[in-house]
Amino acid sequence: MKGMVFTEFMEMVESKFGLELADRILTTCDLPSGGSYTAVGTYDHHELMTLVQLLSLETNIPIPDLVRAFGHHLFGRFTEMYPRFFQGVSSSFQFLEQVDAYVHVEVLKLYPEAELPKFTSQRMDENRLAFEYRSRRPFGDLAEGLIAGCAEHFGEQIQIQREPLAAESGTAIRFLITRLG
Ligand code: HEM
Repeated sequence: MKGMVFTEFMEMVESKFGLELADRILTTCDLPSGGSYTAVGTYDHHELMTLVQLLSLETNIPIPDLVRAFGHHLFGRFTEMYPRFFQGVSSSFQFLEQVDAYVHVEVLKLYPEAELPKFTSQRMDENRLAFEYRSRRPFGDLAEGLIAGCAEHFGEQIQIQREPLAAESGTAIRFLITRLG
């Protein structure tokens, strides 16, 4: 997983919980990388899970809540780091529909070693989008947080229902996103 995900995670920990806690997590974690991440490096995604587990132990906040909060935060960072992906896009549904065929395709050109999930989307009606996530990895909570961050970016209120799908391996989740206003 790209180092940028790790550096953004640690930035979030620092800004929400303070530098001291961020340092403590990095020094107590016994990780192959030693916990010193660079945005351009690539690291085992299990390290992110270890960091989240440690943060959960320190804060008493459940792991899924922390991962969702991170997804939300990360989307905000993406809007600053990759403004070109937002040109001409005026709603969360329009953006989400472009993630698989455009955004992640461009991400892969920038970072050929990235391992990205697959998304399919289907408009149920004007205010409902079915969005299916499939990945070898268990990052459904991250996807949910990113979806929430996306709605916030476009100033929309949404409700997200999720349903696990059968998957031979990895993770598959169907998000039903309802736009409330
Ligand atoms: C400007 C928008 C976006 C950018 C630049 C972006 C970029 C990235 C990057 C760099 C990774 C790390 C891949 C790796 O290191 O192996 C990633 C992973 C991921 N992205 Fe995106 N992404 C964007 C939008 C979204 C949105 C809207 C979703 C939606 C739900 C999403 C879902 C995910 C998930 C769940 C992962 C974790 C990997 C996995 O589940 O297998 N991304 N993305």
